[in-house]
Amino acid sequence: MLTLENTATAAYVVAALLFILALAGLSKHETSKAGSSFGIAGMAVALIATIALALARDIEPMGLALLIVAMVIGAVIGLWRAKIVEMTGMPELIALLHSFVGLAAVLVGWNGYLHVEGDPGGAEALQLAQEGMLGIHSAEVFIGVFIGAVTFTGSVVANLKLSARIKSAPMMLPGKNMLNVGALVAFFALTVWFVIDPTLWLLAVVTVLALLLGWHLVASIGGGDMPVVVSMLNSYSGWAAAASGFLLGNDLLIITGALVGSSGAYLSYIMCKAMNRSFISVIAGGFGIEAGPADDTDYGEHREINADGVAELLSTATSVIIAPGYGMAVAQAQYGVADLTRKLRERGVDVRFGIHPVAGRLPGHMNVLLAEAKVPYDIVLEMDEINDDFDGTSVVLVIGANDTVNPAASEDPGSPIAGMPVLTVWNADNVIVFKRSMASGYAGVQNPLFFRENTQMLFGDAKDRVDAINAALSVAEKV
Ligand code: TAP
Repeated sequence: MLTLENTATAAYVVAALLFILALAGLSKHETSKAGSSFGIAGMAVALIATIALALARDIEPMGLALLIVAMVIGAVIGLWRAKIVEMTGMPELIALLHSFVGLAAVLVGWNGYLHVEGDPGGAEALQLAQEGMLGIHSAEVFIGVFIGAVTFTGSVVANLKLSARIKSAPMMLPGKNMLNVGALVAFFALTVWFVIDPTLWLLAVVTVLALLLGWHLVASIGGGDMPVVVSMLNSYSGWAAAASGFLLGNDLLIITGALVGSSGAYLSYIMCKAMNRSFISVIAGGFGIEAGPADDTDYGEHREINADGVAELLSTATSVIIAPGYGMAVAQAQYGVADLTRKLRERGVDVRFGIHPVAGRLPGHMNVLLAEAKVPYDIVLEMDEINDDFDGTSVVLVIGANDTVNPAASEDPGSPIAGMPVLTVWNADNVIVFKRSMASGYAGVQNPLFFRENTQMLFGDAKDRVDAINAALSVAEKV
């Protein structure tokens, strides 16, 4: 028989399928728009089905009103934030959103405890005891609160680091690895204890322990490894949501949480491989990484060039590779860069882009900006596809990139970014670095590239500088 309850359950299956299609679509540029439409549709179906399910289960009018008010407030804030956020502010916003999932999981866990273990004579506790499921419920509460609290503080720290409100350098507490391992061992022991004797103080202890652990795990990871941290927190937020799904008996939340958890874990793994980092080391809060000595090497003098000089260099070039980075996003220089690309290609110059897997502040950040400015996909190449081609290239334009073109990563084993593969731009005949000052990049590491003999610095805002080069090239065309 078709009831409101089983229609809503069927809608959950539809929503789950839409979420799977969303993930599949988001894995390629060409299908990413369709992917996000599937995601929006899936979430709309899920929200309507949740209200329908609540009605089918005779929710009290007050409960229904609160549900709707919460959804409306959430939607208004969400739409407003999404509208005003800059592309460069996306990672910190995402980190903040992960923290909400973590906090929600903690609240759901505590609520579950207060309704069941905290009220042993209540209907729910008696029913679970009769079914022999009380121990399982206690384990779900404890594990859900733990994952949620780690996700919450971890994401708050990630947000603070990404928005530069705290330093991105790793926090190095003495014995930091033992602190993390100790916290995990304590969690396992406390879980067993809580299942046997579910008291409130144990839940309070694990909440505080997990809040501190989440803070410490992310604070201990250095700037250069933050991309992996963000995708790892994405994964944790998925597991936190799945844990809430078990507690609430909500299958869609379990499926969605598992999808987010496993895709986030896989993304972290891919990023670790791309950056030559150990997955275990990063998820364990930089396990095994110790602070190196401060870099006081004297790299010598740098050379400067102006926009006209770059235009002149480009007018005699046969091949150009553009290595964009975070600074291109800050300056919103992608449109000027697309213009410059078009101009050079019209003159018969071979122009290509070299994209580092963690350039910018989001996976695929540069690809999105270049696609937005209508740079053809086929000249935008990944690091592995282009790294052998710098040798023999006339000019490389490093536009607002720094850590991702730092030779110290491959040449200085003591560098904090040692081992991370980088774009080997220094092998080209000429390298022009667009930035505003000699300041270091996100990882806070000096870049010896700036002092190489074939490198010249073009100081100023990347958009202004690119526009000036475009203007100089146009004047030269008219003459
Ligand atoms: P970064 O190393 O962050 O360097 C960007 C450079 O852009 C800075 O040195 C800055 O120098 C310059 N810049 C900033 N605003 C500019 C403007 N308006 N005009 C011109 N230049 C400007 O960039 P990257 O090479 O893209 O490396 C990314 C870093 O972020 C890596 O360490 C990566 O691990 C980390 N990270 C990445 C992600 C993801 S997933 N992509 C997420 C979090 C963190 P000035 O200040 O001198 O101008």
